Amino acid sequence: MPEASAPRDRLLVALDVERLDEADALMDRLAGEVSGCKIGSQLFTAAGPVAVEHALKRGFRVFLDLKYHDIPNTVAGAVREATRLGVFILNVHASGGAAMLRAAAEAATKAAKDFAVARPLVIGVTVLTSLDRRALEREVGVGGSVEAHVLHLAEQARTAGLDGCVASSHEIRLLRNALGRAWVIVTPGIRPADRGDDQMRTATPTAAIAAGANYLVVGRPITAASDPVVAARAITEEISAAST
Ligand code: C5P
Repeated sequence: MPEASAPRDRLLVALDVERLDEADALMDRLAGEVSGCKIGSQLFTAAGPVAVEHALKRGFRVFLDLKYHDIPNTVAGAVREATRLGVFILNVHASGGAAMLRAAAEAATKAAKDFAVARPLVIGVTVLTSLDRRALEREVGVGGSVEAHVLHLAEQARTAGLDGCVASSHEIRLLRNALGRAWVIVTPGIRPADRGDDQMRTATPTAAIAAGANYLVVGRPITAASDPVVAARAITEEISAAST
């Protein structure tokens, strides 16, 4: 593991809501339980960078999940602005090519110096979990197994200087074994035992931590729970038990 974090630091709550006041209310409830949140394209498109400011003001660390995928110069500019906002993780599509990945990593380093902020972790998105082998081949035009392509893209990302990748629970062991302990793995699709919804490739917090994930992204199991604080606490307790 790249760092020994407290369980509450390893849980990132996905703030997938329409309005900033909903995100604020969730953060205000969860502030004592969780120290990280994920702001994705829905909230960021609706509310803009002020959503990040509200999270930081409440003491949350922010994973800005905007999955940049563009030419190197444009991605570098976006990474520079995300770094200026003070996020601690941001992501780019690992399929953007080596030059784009290098530009992203270098932009984060330079912007952190220029703006005197901590350098964010820059992580890659490999194969979206909504794609299976058939869709990857027929629709995206990439043959072979999903796992082989995930590993290929993660290796490209590491060679280019990225810090880690997003990985479904099914890929954690493969990536941890191939890329070593310092590689940062962020895993969504977490479901406490016995819950299911539209997430296909899920794992319990215990299974994902045991397989080697550094951070877990959890949305609806917390945000749609009747008591989000109780739900978040149950997950940090699971993380704690699985880490020992
Ligand atoms: O509500 P739920 O726990 O399913 O939320 C998971 C979050 O992780 C969502 O914000 C979703 O966009 C994100 N995500 C995912 N699968 C990926 C990458 C990101 O579910 N492969």
